[in-house]
Amino acid sequence: MGSKWSTEFITGLKEIDEHHFTIIKKLYEIEQLIQINPTKSEIMDALLFLESYTQMHFKFEESLMAEQNCPAAKENKQQHAMFIDKVHGFNQNFAHNDMMDVDLKDIAVELSNWIINHILQVDMKLKEN
Ligand SMILES: [Fe+2]
Repeated sequence: MGSKWSTEFITGLKEIDEHHFTIIKKLYEIEQLIQINPTKSEIMDALLFLESYTQMHFKFEESLMAEQNCPAAKENKQQHAMFIDKVHGFNQNFAHNDMMDVDLKDIAVELSNWIINHILQVDMKLKEN
C-alpha cells in the first residue's frame, strides 16, 4: 500500500491542493503507524484528525463548487457524506470495541483508495471549471 502525493492530484486551486496534500500525508502516516504496532489511542488520534480535517475540507470544497456552479457539486457532496460516515463509523467502532479485532490495513487501504479515486474523478472537475 502507499498513499503518495502525486502531481496528478493538482487542481491548481491552492487551498484545495493544500488540503488534499494534508489528507494524503495523514493517510500515509496512518499506514506507517500500522506497521509499528500502534496503541489504540495512536490510531484513534490519527483517525479522529482525519475525520475532523476532512469535514473542514469538504465544507470548504463544497462551497467553492457551489459558487462556481460546478457540474460535479451534487455528486461531490454525496460522496463526501459517504466518506464522513465511513470514517465516523470506524471511529465509533474503535471507541466501543477492541480495535485489535479489526484489520487496520484494510481500513487504511479503503480510505486511501477512496480519497485518491475521489480526487481524480470528482475534485478534478474543479480544474475544468
Ligand atoms: Fe471532493
